[in-house]
Amino acid sequence: MESPVIIPIAPAIQLCITLFLIYVASQAIYRLYLSPLSSIPGPKWAPLTYWYEFYYDGYQGGKYIFKIKEFHEKYGPIVRINPHHVHINDISFYDTIYAPGGTKHLRNKIRWLAMDLDAMFDTYDAALHRNRRAAVASPFSKQAIRALEPAIFQIIDDSMGRLKKMAGTNAIVNIHAVWSNLTQEVIGQYCFGASSMSNLREGNEEALFMQADHVAPNLHAWGRMFPWVFNLIEKIPMSVLAVFDRRLLDADKFDKEIGAQIMNVLKTDEPRIGIKNVFHEMRDSKHLPPEDKRFSYYKVEAASFVAAGTETTASALTTLTYFVLANPDILSTLREELKTVMPDGLTELPPTSTLENLPYLTGVIQEGIRLSFSVPGRLPRTAPNEELVYKGYRLLPGQSSYLLHTDEKVFPEPLEFKPERWINDTDFSVRRHFVAFSRGARGCIGINLAYAELYPAVAALFSRFELKLYKTSGRDVEFASDMFISLRPEGSQGVRVQVVSAA
Ligand code: HEM
Repeated sequence: MESPVIIPIAPAIQLCITLFLIYVASQAIYRLYLSPLSSIPGPKWAPLTYWYEFYYDGYQGGKYIFKIKEFHEKYGPIVRINPHHVHINDISFYDTIYAPGGTKHLRNKIRWLAMDLDAMFDTYDAALHRNRRAAVASPFSKQAIRALEPAIFQIIDDSMGRLKKMAGTNAIVNIHAVWSNLTQEVIGQYCFGASSMSNLREGNEEALFMQADHVAPNLHAWGRMFPWVFNLIEKIPMSVLAVFDRRLLDADKFDKEIGAQIMNVLKTDEPRIGIKNVFHEMRDSKHLPPEDKRFSYYKVEAASFVAAGTETTASALTTLTYFVLANPDILSTLREELKTVMPDGLTELPPTSTLENLPYLTGVIQEGIRLSFSVPGRLPRTAPNEELVYKGYRLLPGQSSYLLHTDEKVFPEPLEFKPERWINDTDFSVRRHFVAFSRGARGCIGINLAYAELYPAVAALFSRFELKLYKTSGRDVEFASDMFISLRPEGSQGVRVQVVSAA
């Protein structure tokens, strides 16, 4: 009998370790000295390994953006922030990265979120994105959103009515919960007609006192580092995952509800206030590829509208509510201006187009959006059919609104809330540096809806109520972590108010 071949274990392990070390060393040499990005300035460790970025974003929880700001202060407008990406902080290059589109300047996204969503927002390929966006362009147009005005006003009146019940009661209201519920109601109205998405749907008044859970790991950072784990998780049905984490039951319920709502919409063909519903538009669109005309696509699109269109607007409203209440001069200037268009006891809201012409109100809203840092971080883009060249470098770049919105040359005392910046902006530099909605072909499609909520909501709150802050400080609106959206510091109880009186 032949004796079996025995591979000596120790030398095999040694060989594996040696090969691994050679691989690591050659990769390090390439990244540091041979990569086309190697001459771009930046910290020593960042180009070597993704673990450097992950330490700040994954382990420390959304903190890399603050390091990136420091890098720019040290190294200038372009820095290398990981083995393959650079970060730019230069508004003059913004519109090149976030180009207006067309077939010449296509911009792809890269995988960026924990989950790989099949929605327009997360479509990597520019050409497919263009078709998906064209399919919903009409219901997001200014004209379509204007038609929604009576419904938005009704939702605001209902919300304010609930707040009115708290007048003089000493009840402590978490204002973020009020704004979140309002924005959820509006998205529900926008997507599904009369149906409501909000927590208050079943008269759940407790929602007004709810505190959002802010202690969460930065899943997106983990998703970027270990995409295969999330690819695997995505394949498991939500109801099965919920066995491990009960909170996912809510997500499962939400998923089913959205499905039922879309079914309702698609069953009827009545145009809403003369404007076709967004799902009817998709179903009938000549732009949407036939493969997308399926229920699962509509569902994920609806979920993305809810995700993109609620927390962002609510966070701007919460931020500005704090700053206005914390600064009596701002409050009284705002009220004086509102009286010019709402002289009659301030109960009837004027058309949004009238409110949009008020410069101080506009300054308040713009500062609220700017300082809420809703989507603070870099939004990387690749250009499939041209080279992006900045100061001679060919790149995979991104810029961060947080850095542009805190540029002291444009926004002196950047963390101060100063509505007058927007009024005194004679050379348009403040407006030019404002990129909260990003820009170009992949910028926010919901911008008209956001402003259609912001103007009347702010006008209604500050004209109808006497509020006072309750145990709330600037820390409660501070931007502490970049988790694609921004989070407040751990332990913050949010912006809390008491309703002293109501008109
Ligand atoms: C103050 C409020 C808002 C802010 C600051 C904001 C910000 C942004 C930003 C920065 C992007 C680009 C993200 C990226 O490049 O990855 C975006 C995209 C998007 N937003 Fe908004 N948003 C707001 C309100 C809304 C609202 C009310 C909706 C309504 C549904 C909405 C829906 C969307 C959608 C669908 C996209 C993806 C667009 C595309 O892929 O072409 N957003 N938003």
